[in-house]
Amino acid sequence: MKLSKPLLLCSVVLALAACGGVDPNSPMGKRQALFKEMLRTSEDLGGMLRGRLPFDEARFVAGAEQLDKLSRQPWQHFPQVRDEGDSRAKDEVWQRQERFQQLARQLEGDTALLRELSQRKPLDPKLAEPAVKKVEDSCRACHEEFRAY
Ligand code: HEC
Repeated sequence: MKLSKPLLLCSVVLALAACGGVDPNSPMGKRQALFKEMLRTSEDLGGMLRGRLPFDEARFVAGAEQLDKLSRQPWQHFPQVRDEGDSRAKDEVWQRQERFQQLARQLEGDTALLRELSQRKPLDPKLAEPAVKKVEDSCRACHEEFRAY
């Protein structure tokens, strides 16, 4: 069957809509990809501590290091002026920059601590657990203030 032009155009539009329509090379696309990666990484760490995944020390150490690197990166992809598009960032991100940056620094401090603790040998999951919890609390604190659900 030969697809008619309008139909073809429509399926292209649908494909774009399905992936959120966000250009992966735009600042918005970049920060959203980083946030997703942060979620994957922190869920693996939490999963290993809470028994959803088998605890693997090397994987935990690498994950904590990765999360600490990632936690420093999304902020540069919030432009000075709010960008148009499919963002879940509230206007407050731009209206209350100081507070937003403060919560970003808080997360960075928490991931740095987690990274440091995870490198102590032998790694004690009981020590790591509150550190992972602190990271998760920092994610949540910022989302409550600055992300529209
Ligand atoms: C300082 C504020 C702040 C902190 C800290 C923060 N986030 Fe977010 N997060 C945001 C904002 C704002 C958005 C919306 C971004 C957008 O759509 O433009 C977001 C979006 C997300 C998204 C959705 C991405 C998508 O698909 O659109 C995920 C997942 C996410 N964050 C995970 C995390 C995790 C995990 C942490 C902690 C390890 C974290 N965030 C810490 C502010 C924050």
